[in-house]
Amino acid sequence: MAPRTCLTVVLAAGEGTRMKSDLPKVLHAAAGRTLVGHAIGAARGAGADRLAVVVGPGREDVVAEVRKHAPEAQIFVQEDRRGTAHAVLQARAALEQPADDLLILFADTPLIEPETLARMREALAEGASVAVLGFHPENAEGYGRLIVENGLLTAIREDRDASADEKKIGFCNAGLMALAGKDALELLDGVGNANAKREFYLTDVVGLARAAGWKTVALEADEAEVQGVNTRAQLAAIEAVVQKKLRAAAMEGGVTLVAPETVFLSADTKFGRDILVEPHVFFGPGVTVEDGVTIRAYCHFEGAHIGKDVTIGPFARLRPGALLGAHTRIGNFVEIKNAVLENDVKVNHLAYVGDAHVGADANIGAGAITCNYDGARKHHTEIGAGAFVGVNSALVAPVTIGDGAYIGTGSVITKDVPADALAVARARQMVKEGWAAQRRKTHPKKDKS
Ligand code: UD1
Ligand code: CA
Repeated sequence: MAPRTCLTVVLAAGEGTRMKSDLPKVLHAAAGRTLVGHAIGAARGAGADRLAVVVGPGREDVVAEVRKHAPEAQIFVQEDRRGTAHAVLQARAALEQPADDLLILFADTPLIEPETLARMREALAEGASVAVLGFHPENAEGYGRLIVENGLLTAIREDRDASADEKKIGFCNAGLMALAGKDALELLDGVGNANAKREFYLTDVVGLARAAGWKTVALEADEAEVQGVNTRAQLAAIEAVVQKKLRAAAMEGGVTLVAPETVFLSADTKFGRDILVEPHVFFGPGVTVEDGVTIRAYCHFEGAHIGKDVTIGPFARLRPGALLGAHTRIGNFVEIKNAVLENDVKVNHLAYVGDAHVGADANIGAGAITCNYDGARKHHTEIGAGAFVGVNSALVAPVTIGDGAYIGTGSVITKDVPADALAVARARQMVKEGWAAQRRKTHPKKDKS
């Protein structure tokens, strides 16, 4: 049998006013990835062949974020917010192309697992027309209730429209839904808006399918997986769940986290194996760590590549474009930005290397700084292989230090230094014999009284 085809529609309209934010809700992030990015990831995990995303009007920022995660997605705009079924119908052009399964996801419910979506698709494969995801929340208030009779789902009643008896039902609608592709448009077009909110409710497809004599089922999921984001506190709750999963996956893959609950990862953090991460390390987006790396406590990374067997930290910062070759050693209070360090480079203490290329085996002393910014523009510093940059040197870019060159301690280097040369650029030391003793006589200390 040919594998079933799947269209996923992600609803990403809505400002999320309870976030009290200039940013639309779906662009808020958990583990360095936006909520809509997580939802697209879930859709991919469920094996979506086609993806449609429904966004609010004038949301170029949301469109750009969708494009970043899914360049192939069809994007639709819902001009007026008239309910979840109305939102899905904005993707009519995508719905008109045949697909066996239609999955409807909410961008603000980002923790849904691919296995759960696969279970929903399985229910369709077994003949259901509608598969709904239910859960038992601690507090059912505000959720649609799933009305199940003799094991079959007969209706979903929105909280506002529910009777006192129906409100006692603890089995609630998680929101997301799976529809048989062949029935989907007929069901969605049948939805009306005769309810408390005058909205076109997606949930009404259950009653419509029942009336047509089609099978409707409810599956159950964990509350953790279907929790939504309406507030910043709920965003933090989602972050905690995602971090827990990412830490577990890292450890499973061969990373030792000495204190997992103090290490913060991004959804795209990539690890090799035999990596040690000491407590309190933050991985922002875009970090790759190769095998055998040791990361000591209190480091902060983003957009960086850490090569094989590197030792880094404590208290080191890697900013975007930091690429560390194998066996590099980065010590405490070092910042690296947009710089390639070839293998075996040492930057052991208190240095800043930015907009630079550093050849293999070079040694950058404590307090050495690349002066990459002249107040208007950034400039490049080239440090040759095997070069030795003495303590407290300032390399004023653009400047090139040749292979094997030696920069004397405390130098301010403004001109290129040839390979294997010594450059010293500082005031010569002056010594006056007896000067201090003489001064003590002419400037005696006042008596302490
Ligand atoms: C929805 C369900 C409810 C369920 C709850 C779970 C419906 C009618 N109700 O209610 O049964 O218990 O989720 O959290 O589906 N959206 C649009 N355009 C619209 C309306 C909504 O894109 O016109 C999007 C929202 O941005 C959101 C999602 O659809 O991502 C859900 O809409 P929301 O208004 O939050 O529905 P609830 O009242 O929470
Ligand atoms: Ca909601």
